Amino acid sequence: MSRLIIVSNRVAPISEGGPAAGGLAVGVYDALKETGGMWFGWSGEVVASGQPQLQLVEQGPVTFATIGLARRDYDQYYRGFSNATLWPAFHYRADLIQYDRHDFEGYWRVNTWLAQQLVPLLRPDDVIWVHDYHLIPFAQALRSAGVRNRIGFFLHIPFPAAQVLLAVPPHRALVEALCSFDLLGFQTQADVRAFCDYVVHEGGGEVAGGEQGAPVVAGAPAHVRAFGRSLRAAAYPIGVYPDEIAQLAKAGARGKSVRLMRQTRHERKLIMSVDRLDYSKGLVERFRAFEHLLDQVPACRNNVSFVQIAPPTRADMHAYQDIRLRLESELGRINGRFAELDWTPIRYIHRQYERSVLAALFRESHVGYVTPLRDGMNLVAKEYVSAQDPDDPGVLVLSRFAGAADELTGALIVNPIDIDGMAQALSEALAMPLADRRARYRDMMAQLRSNNVSVWRDTFLRDLAQGGQLPAERAPG
Ligand code: ADP
Ligand code: G6P
Repeated sequence: MSRLIIVSNRVAPISEGGPAAGGLAVGVYDALKETGGMWFGWSGEVVASGQPQLQLVEQGPVTFATIGLARRDYDQYYRGFSNATLWPAFHYRADLIQYDRHDFEGYWRVNTWLAQQLVPLLRPDDVIWVHDYHLIPFAQALRSAGVRNRIGFFLHIPFPAAQVLLAVPPHRALVEALCSFDLLGFQTQADVRAFCDYVVHEGGGEVAGGEQGAPVVAGAPAHVRAFGRSLRAAAYPIGVYPDEIAQLAKAGARGKSVRLMRQTRHERKLIMSVDRLDYSKGLVERFRAFEHLLDQVPACRNNVSFVQIAPPTRADMHAYQDIRLRLESELGRINGRFAELDWTPIRYIHRQYERSVLAALFRESHVGYVTPLRDGMNLVAKEYVSAQDPDDPGVLVLSRFAGAADELTGALIVNPIDIDGMAQALSEALAMPLADRRARYRDMMAQLRSNNVSVWRDTFLRDLAQGGQLPAERAPG
């Protein structure tokens, strides 16, 4: 069997043996711990002086190969083009896109340099699977270095509509670079359609076949011919291990955190949200909708608590400092308006938690409140459902703009801009009869089991192994 090489900017922290907050690290970690292989990427360190050195650490069946970034590379590649240009653009926040040509050059330079670091570690029959928007030029860089292995790419975040992508000045170079991969994986059919639309209408390419009408999971990938390359593209919605999470949640219910939560909530109902503190997550709108619920349904006052766990992320970037200030101002305002001596309406927590603790808290709560403005998938939504008690499950309130909404049709689907609609959904969720909750939970668990993270990995790798061309067999221009 070929060895699997995973390449991503963020690598799960090695010492803690578990993933950081962020869907990529969590999903990839779950996928790789079964197959074994190598995980190559940034160590998370910024190297003040001297050349960053590659570090190899073996942990069970996985070799972690990580390297630091020089300050300028971190600023241009990570903070700059990846997170100040691509992240807002791909999350439909054209208002937040910043562009600096030097950052773009740095992004390309770091991709080339990272590819050069990887090349000596590769064997001829390795299968290379590159993840996410930081590494769009990675296949092109490997090909230039003479690598002929199969190379796949999975985008964890949305692929934007062509009209939005056009706002990123080097959009054409990016899509051309994507076409150097053999297989492109997206979270949803809508993302595949957006990519194909760009290829046909802006890139002068052709698309044939595929399952573009299919609502959820990929059938046969679409064949794409563009920029002198022939490749395939399909949707592979990332999953979780629902039964493993259910076990963790059940075991964690006896732990200290859940006991504390129980003691302090008394008989109150609990609404729970967990997100990185990112402007794509719709936290301000979510707080306002909870406020609206307290306004509209006085019986909820002092009878419902909302816990928002939001570990800060990319905290050295202006847009993230700004969303944090806005959120904290809303939080202070709403808590000031409604709090009682014995009740704080919104509890706001920055901490990281063990997966078992999070799962147990999900199980303890009555409503999972997951309302991003845009999200590639949103694993939290899938984790929330997985963690529920089958006899007395909570209700998921889910944004239609999360990729997970395609699969989790048993959720109460909301538009996160519609504050009134979200408050109504919360009220409905809090009052939902047991039979209805059970039926929705059963449907969603069946879907999560049939498309778990092994299915995601195996389907993608099967398609990558089966088709595609080696670079010597380039399609005619
Ligand atoms: P994103 O990838 O944008 O962060 P996802 O919902 O897809 O969003 O993935 C987030 C992942 O990070 C989930 O697996 C979630 O459990 C985990 N996570 C989020 N916040 C925390 C936290 N405070 N402690 C531990 N894990 C967290
Ligand atoms: C999302 C992205 C990942 C990223 C994660 C955390 O899940 O898709 O690529 O790793 O957010 O963000 P960070 O900038 O800390 O890696």
